[in-house]
Amino acid sequence: MKNILVTGGLGYIGSHTVIALQQAGFNVYIIDDLSNSQLEVWEKITAITGVQPIYYNIDLKDYNAVSVFFQSHKIDGIIHFAAYKAVGESVAKPLMYYRNNLLGLMNVLEAMEENQLDNFIFSSSCTVYGQADTMPINEMTPLKRPESPYGNTKKVGEEIIEDFIKITDKNAISLRYFNPVGSESKGLLGDLQIIPNNLMPYILQTAVGIRESLGVFGNDYETRDGTAVRDYIDVNDLADAHVKAIQRLLDGKNKSKLEFFNLGSGTGSTVLEIVTAFEQANNLKINYEIKPRRAGDIVQAYADYSFAKSELDWEPKTPLQISMQTAWKFQQQLDKVIE
Ligand code: UD1
Repeated sequence: MKNILVTGGLGYIGSHTVIALQQAGFNVYIIDDLSNSQLEVWEKITAITGVQPIYYNIDLKDYNAVSVFFQSHKIDGIIHFAAYKAVGESVAKPLMYYRNNLLGLMNVLEAMEENQLDNFIFSSSCTVYGQADTMPINEMTPLKRPESPYGNTKKVGEEIIEDFIKITDKNAISLRYFNPVGSESKGLLGDLQIIPNNLMPYILQTAVGIRESLGVFGNDYETRDGTAVRDYIDVNDLADAHVKAIQRLLDGKNKSKLEFFNLGSGTGSTVLEIVTAFEQANNLKINYEIKPRRAGDIVQAYADYSFAKSELDWEPKTPLQISMQTAWKFQQQLDKVIE
């Protein structure tokens, strides 16, 4: 059984990936400092798969702690999620974001070097493309400086990995996600945002009555209905891509030492289309009002995932309707806990 370390394994995409790895027969170790996650997620993972992953609360900024972990465990591959991800907060606290996201990354890479570990998967984002000039976005689309410090930690993170890979015999894959949505089928795990940053948590909090209405940021974009276009990809599909990516490295099937893959559904949806999809999938009504454009927002972004399809044998499987239903299930489970 291969041992995979998942940093940030109690977070939204991390926890779904842990499940997918366990179901694919991997032995999973989780490192998570609970800075944006909850210990209960660990129990929920165990309830879903019947296997308890080994968990450590380690701050990746603490190199000694990271080093001790790697010296005492035999790890075959690393999937590195652990990072802060709130765009607005990153604008207000840039140094906190650079320190956390980049120092954590560098410490893991350093420990790989120290312990002769080979295989590394990086959690990146379509934010590295900024507002791309052409759609859909493929891996050859030129990168632009992201609008936010958060986004820049992903871009600089990729550059750090690239420079590191050049001088070592390591292999890495950077996965650039578009907009993750949905939850595993029981609705036990999800995107836990108490103060939301992203569209889906705002829709969910409006549906459940925590918020009176959803603000739709701008309806004067040059799009079908004036609202901005994004590519919403189910989190379970994203999780599968991580399993395929780590397997590719373990099997030595990668064609270069550092590869990049876009992970999206391939379909662009407007904000209003997502609202309607949510309403129809769950037979609910969402109050919304049009607000001014949000600073830093791009008009549109959607993926060309054909490279992931041909090389990783991955493609999105979950219809948007199902993602909308599992997201709603997750919100309802949360309310049960709160009650
Ligand atoms: C944002 C980040 C991106 C990051 C991603 C993580 C920016 C500019 N980009 O992407 O770097 O990788 O989150 O998931 O912040 N919207 C509303 N009302 C809301 C919330 C959002 O209309 O209450 C709209 C936004 O204007 C946007 C779309 O919904 O058009 C999606 O927004 P969001 O979920 O925040 O994701 P991104 O902005 O695409």
